[in-house]
Amino acid sequence: MRAYYFDNVPGDQRLPHDYVPSRPVAPHVLKALNVLSWTIPVEGYEDSVNAIAKERGYKNRDTIDVSKEGMGEIYESKIKGFFEEHMHEDEEIRYILSGSGFFDVRETPTDAWIRLAVEPGDLIVLPAGIYHRFTLDEANRIKALRLFQDEPKWIPHNRSSDTDVNPHRIGYLKEIGVGA
Ligand SMILES: [Fe+2]
Repeated sequence: MRAYYFDNVPGDQRLPHDYVPSRPVAPHVLKALNVLSWTIPVEGYEDSVNAIAKERGYKNRDTIDVSKEGMGEIYESKIKGFFEEHMHEDEEIRYILSGSGFFDVRETPTDAWIRLAVEPGDLIVLPAGIYHRFTLDEANRIKALRLFQDEPKWIPHNRSSDTDVNPHRIGYLKEIGVGA
């Protein structure tokens, strides 16, 4: 998984949006934001993913196919919704089975966007309370395993003055040592 600062140039969200020259983000920066990642080859991935799921208490999972063919009529509205800046009250866990895409996570306290370019074999965990968004890239397809601690409840809370005081947001800021 490649991580770099998003260039903030207006235009198609599916383009790489990499500065020239690129501004890579070092692993310790992601670690400080509590963003976790592993690389697990897709061929025979089950045992390794199962081991991490067991260790971290992810009991449920499903597969999501984000593509025009996979989503049908809701495709356009879903794509738009995924790219709205939001947070969840639970971790967002994804293992990429095929295709590719971009998760953008907010660096705090700078508020810069960090772009995570995910590919097959990438397993990422976005902590509860982190502001983030997702887009496909120009290949327009990704298939991923979604892992859940309990029942799937992937309610996105779009960023607002309310989410700034959401207990899960506050808890996240405390965990990364920013703010109160
Ligand atoms: Fe999300």
